[in-house]
Amino acid sequence: MRAMRHERYGGPEVLEEAEVPDPVAGPGEVLVDVEAAGVNFGDIKDIAGELTEGPYAAQGPLPRIPGMEVAGRTGDGRRVVGYLRQGGYAAKAAVAERDLAPLPEGVGAGEALALLVQGLTAWHLLRSVARVRPGETVVVHAAAGGTGGLAVQLAREFGAGRVIATASSEEKRALALELGADAAVDGEADGYRERILGANRGRPVDVVLDAVGGPVLDAAAGALGFLGRLVTYGASSRQAATAIPPTRLAVENLTVGGFWLTPLITRDGAGGAALEELLALTARGRLRPQVGAEYPLERARDAHEDLLGRRTKGKLLLRP
Ligand SMILES: NC(=O)c1ccc[n+]([C@@H]2O[C@H](COP(=O)([O-])OP(=O)(O)OC[C@H]3O[C@@H](n4cnc5c(N)ncnc54)[C@H](OP(=O)(O)O)[C@@H]3O)[C@@H](O)[C@H]2O)c1
Repeated sequence: MRAMRHERYGGPEVLEEAEVPDPVAGPGEVLVDVEAAGVNFGDIKDIAGELTEGPYAAQGPLPRIPGMEVAGRTGDGRRVVGYLRQGGYAAKAAVAERDLAPLPEGVGAGEALALLVQGLTAWHLLRSVARVRPGETVVVHAAAGGTGGLAVQLAREFGAGRVIATASSEEKRALALELGADAAVDGEADGYRERILGANRGRPVDVVLDAVGGPVLDAAAGALGFLGRLVTYGASSRQAATAIPPTRLAVENLTVGGFWLTPLITRDGAGGAALEELLALTARGRLRPQVGAEYPLERARDAHEDLLGRRTKGKLLLRP
């Protein structure tokens, strides 16, 4: 089968097209004929070798095939979407049954892929970590992105009173507003507090969801109100934030939480109630996952470069 793989760690240039043997489904796994594979920001970190240590390190020796999610058909004819630790950038993939969900009628492969890593992340950020309560103000960074665009819509769906989006261009901010944000502003660290409070009628906010990191994460802590929650789930800027001292957290009644989907899926599987809820909301038209761009499988490098260059909106797909 055809696949995109890498023989060394590095930037998008390490991805190369290759003809490789078909994967073999192990116990509890099924083989999926891949209709589309999802691209995630995490794939960039994965091929850069940033996940080579610790309990959730990338598995197996090089060369390896990256890609954590596929949509397609099983041998017995089921249309499915599924999560895998690696091997998604290929024409076929072996996926554990516990990490699969059936696609409901009317939900496309691209929409379903948007719901997997990015959708589950947005769901857990709001429900499991920030535990947003009705009427609260939620700030979503990179709100035109795959995860951010879904977080905006789900915050609405879960009862947030006001959703404030940040994004780096007019076009991206327009998309965030179309997805249901009440206000959309530039997310740069300079002047962050003034813009966010200005978008919230002068008041500090209840929740901020951040995966930009660095100075933006620091700035976000300064926009939180009483009992505010800041959730960090990535660092697209690849900059480290300065530490927020515990005394400040106590004095200002702030909570900083973190989230990573991989340990959660390792524990519970991907195909559970949260994914089913996301798929059902999409089938009913209440959630509109955005597919921003599709690339032929062999152009996976371009997808990575576009993502790194902040040129994308919504979910990116590879078509084998
Ligand atoms: N913890 C988890 O389990 C988990 C799961 C999914 C994703 N994530 C993280 O969430 C973030 C978003 O992932 P995604 O796949 O949904 O990607 P995405 O949001 O579709 O794309 C990344 C966006 O990040 C923003 N960004 C800000 N500074 C950037 C920089 N220096 N370089 C590149 N982009 C920058 C850009 O939006 P603007 O141009 O509008 O700023 C860009 O479009 C990533 O950091 C990812 O690692 C974490």
